[in-house]
Amino acid sequence: MATFSPKLFITTFLAILASRINGKIINVPPHPSEQPTKAEMTLRPDSLDAPKLDHVEDQFYEWWYFDVISDKDGQYTSLDVVFYTSTTTGFDILGPSVPLANPSVDLIQVTVGFANGSVYNAYLNGSQATFIMHGDGVTGIYPSPRAMFNTASDLSSASVVLNAPEVGFEGVLHLTSTAPPHGPCDAAHPGISLELMPHVGWVNAFPDAIARASITVNGEQLVIEGRGYHDKNWGDRAFSKSLDTWYWGHATLGDYSIVFFDTLDYAGVGRSSSYVAKDGKILVSQCKGVVARPFGNGATYPPRMMDPEPLGLHLTIDTPDGHINATLTKVHTVLGLGLGPYHRWLDKIAGTVGGGEELYGLASFEQFAFSS
Ligand SMILES: *[C@@H]1O[C@H](CO)[C@@H](O)[C@H](O)[C@H]1NC(C)=O
Ligand SMILES: *[C@@H]1O[C@H](CO)[C@@H](O)[C@H](O)[C@H]1NC(C)=O
Ligand SMILES: *[C@@H]1O[C@H](CO)[C@@H](O)[C@H](O)[C@H]1NC(C)=O
Repeated sequence: MATFSPKLFITTFLAILASRINGKIINVPPHPSEQPTKAEMTLRPDSLDAPKLDHVEDQFYEWWYFDVISDKDGQYTSLDVVFYTSTTTGFDILGPSVPLANPSVDLIQVTVGFANGSVYNAYLNGSQATFIMHGDGVTGIYPSPRAMFNTASDLSSASVVLNAPEVGFEGVLHLTSTAPPHGPCDAAHPGISLELMPHVGWVNAFPDAIARASITVNGEQLVIEGRGYHDKNWGDRAFSKSLDTWYWGHATLGDYSIVFFDTLDYAGVGRSSSYVAKDGKILVSQCKGVVARPFGNGATYPPRMMDPEPLGLHLTIDTPDGHINATLTKVHTVLGLGLGPYHRWLDKIAGTVGGGEELYGLASFEQFAFSS
């Protein structure tokens, strides 16, 4: 288990073949580029999961985020893998977080949340990264460490493979999509805006998925089966300059797949995004109609950098099926233990849609708070 996947190899091989026919290849060297570039903020045809920067200049950042969250038999576990092509001046919380001298632009972060609440978190310094575009999917190859991801051309499935014995990690993650992709304000179709807020782009290729990871962490084998998710972010200005606070999360509540943002900039201007799908169909995808507020441990809104961790989040979203009123309750802290600008949690969610019966599920949400 947890090593080489022949199926993934074949998928990748086919992807490379496709790229020879109509694809495009981008190489991202480990040092910031001096070539001027522009961040794409409009969705082009056949490019949903593709890089949105041609070069990663100083102050620029981009990443592909994958997760699986699980509550099998009452055991809450998670795996998150982030493939960065980011400078530490661009995604500027990386600087203080990464325990590596001069981290590469091509950085990988792996985080495992164990059932007992302990966390494994490692960064891998990549020597370079290559992205092969095929349809709406992309294959990202980080040859050293031996890591790659592939999202299918039609975004129906995705895989991540990571073989990094130097940090005691190896494993595979597979996602099968259960909800259609979208941007901040619309279902995914060419021409939509991908601007979540000025200088911050976002697209969500896998809002919800059936997911399975088979991993080995420091010699211990673990299978994490549950819900999966994959999105990507990018920007052309230091991340902490673009926003003051942000709540982001994804959840499966009964048959509903939910993705949300509720943010504030330094002028107090709020921007949000709400997405709800059911039975593989989008009910709502818009940049309004959501409110996420922390509770517990003296939490106030907007959150501040040195606030203690809240116990959870109250979430309301407007949908054509009625108002979603849900509570995300923290089970484990996955990242950012204690105080600081960033936290991510694994949660239970309970709530109602249109005042109907109580529904339950699994969620993950994060908080950025840059002001003290
Ligand atoms: C990480 O990679 C960068 C770019 O190749 C290199 O300059 C740096 O020394 C590396 N850091 C470590 C700790 O290996
Ligand atoms: C928690 O679980 C992990 C994985 O099984 C294990 O390595 C670690 O020692 C455990 N920690 C505690 C405090 O029990
Ligand atoms: C949401 O549910 C909570 C707890 O059941 C309740 O106190 C609150 O009034 C509800 N809010 C809305 C907007 O329906």
